[in-house]
Amino acid sequence: MAVYCRRADPFVIAVSPESSMNAVCRPPELAIIVPTFNEAGNVAAVVERVAACMGDRDWELVFVDDDSPDATAQAVRALGRDDRRVRCVQRIGRRGLSSACIEGILSTTAPVVAVMDADLQHDERLLPQMLQELKSENLDVVVGSRYVSGGGTPGWSRNRVRISRLATVFGQRFLAVDIKDPMSGFFMMTREAFDDTVRQLSGIGFKILLDILASSRRRLKVRELPFTFRERHSGESKLDSGVAWDYVMLLMDKTVGRYVPVRFIVFSLVGGLGVLVHMLTLALLFKGLGAGFAASQLTATLVAMSGNFFLNNYLTYRDRRLRGMKMIGGLLSFILACSVGAVANVGIAVYLFEADTFWVLSAVAGVIVGAVWNYAVSAVYTWNAASR
Ligand code: GDD
Ligand code: MN
Repeated sequence: MAVYCRRADPFVIAVSPESSMNAVCRPPELAIIVPTFNEAGNVAAVVERVAACMGDRDWELVFVDDDSPDATAQAVRALGRDDRRVRCVQRIGRRGLSSACIEGILSTTAPVVAVMDADLQHDERLLPQMLQELKSENLDVVVGSRYVSGGGTPGWSRNRVRISRLATVFGQRFLAVDIKDPMSGFFMMTREAFDDTVRQLSGIGFKILLDILASSRRRLKVRELPFTFRERHSGESKLDSGVAWDYVMLLMDKTVGRYVPVRFIVFSLVGGLGVLVHMLTLALLFKGLGAGFAASQLTATLVAMSGNFFLNNYLTYRDRRLRGMKMIGGLLSFILACSVGAVANVGIAVYLFEADTFWVLSAVAGVIVGAVWNYAVSAVYTWNAASR
């Protein structure tokens, strides 16, 4: 018998036939993780519809909210005050659908977990069937799929269909994932399978299922069940060009990331671009406007560093992007870190050169030491991202 510890029934423990605390407050068999950003207008409907379709199964809903300005977290907590099956994990100063799902899954003890969007585009009525098949067929993962027979995306523009298909083919080819809809954000899996993969996950961007399938060390038993992707209930999609960039980062991380951290690759590319910006600014000021060399070089350095800061803030550290006033402190700490990096760069290069090292090698060694320093120090002090 399923007995929920609702606030509304404070005496449930006393009256329950299973009168031990353990029996009454058993963990749910299914936790549904719902990442949210600005979904205040949807969360009540999610709770209502999930409750309506789950029958007497034991479940909980974990909303993982990235401190949405529309107060989604407060809305979830208000729902949780009436129903303890509804919980909120609120993350501050962080963004990202995948990492939100990972943290939501880590926050529950349920033996089976599902991931579902908050905007009701994923059909919650599929959840009972997913759970049943997962258990009866001994599967690791069940995917709500738009691309198996019976599923679909009615109402999508031709362009969106084309982009989605292209991204799917990229994922399938690059990461050797052979299911029809690895880009789906709607799936269920056993905790065991999740625990096996969690340390290998990239946690970048939107594609958590693809991340899981590509990271698993063993072949997961997967089944796809069709569903029809619905219209968004309320609010706006967060899909933008940044999401496409996140996808590129995920593909890089899952392929070359094994050897070099993907953030370091992007950071270095931005650095290379910075050299170009530096030379252009220098040429403009010194040659074009006739300014003095020292003043031109100093200005070019500051322009290149600032440009690099903004690009890194947008591309390399999207998930930890500094905004508003925090950007000023970030910019200053970045310039400071890179200045010390430049001193180290020149110091190492001169030291090697004077020890009879070929000039190109001396210079390259200096550049590498400077780049690694800039990367490591700015990761910690500018973007506060020590671990990843
Ligand atoms: N916590 C958190 N942080 N949640 C986020 C973030 C974020 O940075 N960005 C988006 N979300 C939440 C949204 O609030 C929503 O509940 C869900 O993630 C999906 O975001 P949408 O903006 O609705 O994305 P979509 O509809 O374009 O794409 C979805 O469907 C695709 C097809 O199934 C996603 O689930 C994709 O992963 C999926 O491929
Ligand atoms: Mn959506």
